[in-house]
Amino acid sequence: MTTDLPTSSTDTSVFDFQAWTDAQLQRTEQALSAWVGVDAPANLGHAMRYAVLDGGKRLRPLLVLAAAQAVNGLPEAALRAACAVELIHAYSLVHDDMPCMDNDVLRRGKPTVHVQFGEAQALLGGDALQALAFELLTPSEAEVPAAMQAKLCRILAQAAGSRGMAGGQAIDLASVGKALSEQELRHMHGLKTGALLQASVAMGVACAQVSQPVQQALARYAEALGVAFQVVDDVLDVVADAATLGKTPGKDAANDKPTFVSLMGLDGARNYANVLLQQALQALKESCLTDVRALSALAHMVVSRSH
Ligand code: IPE
Ligand code: IPE
Ligand code: MG
Ligand code: MG
Ligand code: MG
Repeated sequence: MTTDLPTSSTDTSVFDFQAWTDAQLQRTEQALSAWVGVDAPANLGHAMRYAVLDGGKRLRPLLVLAAAQAVNGLPEAALRAACAVELIHAYSLVHDDMPCMDNDVLRRGKPTVHVQFGEAQALLGGDALQALAFELLTPSEAEVPAAMQAKLCRILAQAAGSRGMAGGQAIDLASVGKALSEQELRHMHGLKTGALLQASVAMGVACAQVSQPVQQALARYAEALGVAFQVVDDVLDVVADAATLGKTPGKDAANDKPTFVSLMGLDGARNYANVLLQQALQALKESCLTDVRALSALAHMVVSRSH
């Protein structure tokens, strides 16, 4: 995708988003493959690699790298943060698909980890991926300064834990069969999905020294994008097919989950995603950063995606 969206007052050049994405994905895939080794005992390494490699849009790593680029962050820290957040995301998907949660058999176009390797390996593989994420964020001081490591760990731990993704997943399961208000739904989605997306942007930003107003503007961008992402996930669950989606569609209705579609209807949810996109783009403008082209293109991608 090539876009010439005027995203800042000082940079209106044509931006080749596809070329940018290809380059970032290549770095990310290589790094993930190197860091998630097969050397774990009793086949655990195979389950971990199966969960992480060969699939996924890598939205969270792309957000880390785009945010780091916008603030001129330390490249080594940004790549580690990009991989770390993807490991947390991949672990959350492994557990989300297990019979005790959404009981799903298809993920990223493949049988889910518990179907392929058994429930115990899925549980342990998820645990190990979570631990590995924090190991990646704590290399030698020569690679990433200690203060930056601590900040990255704190952002990711808060987003993954009970006040973030895990807490949101608990609300999701406790909400089965209930009609939530828009505010309650936003809260649940803000935690279960939004927290890791917001952390992705915050980690990219934490790869540099950035002023408070810039941090806040990018946090507003990430908050809007996080909700938009889950609104679209809910829409796709209704309208997309399994081949495009790489996961089973229709699961939310089948599991009686409250979603933005059950709350607002399909058109209402689509309109809401576009309102959120505009909010995200407005926040980027307010950041006054000169190179937000990748962040802008990623926000468009989140709302117009087909899977
Ligand atoms: C799916 O996330 C799960 C949610 C948080 C809604 P993605 O749509 O980013 O999944 P992958 O990483 O591309 O497989
Ligand atoms: C999953 O949400 C969110 C996390 C894994 C944290 P969903 O249950 O809606 O995700 P999909 O639709 O299975 O990908
Ligand atoms: Mg779920
Ligand atoms: Mg699910
Ligand atoms: Mg879903």
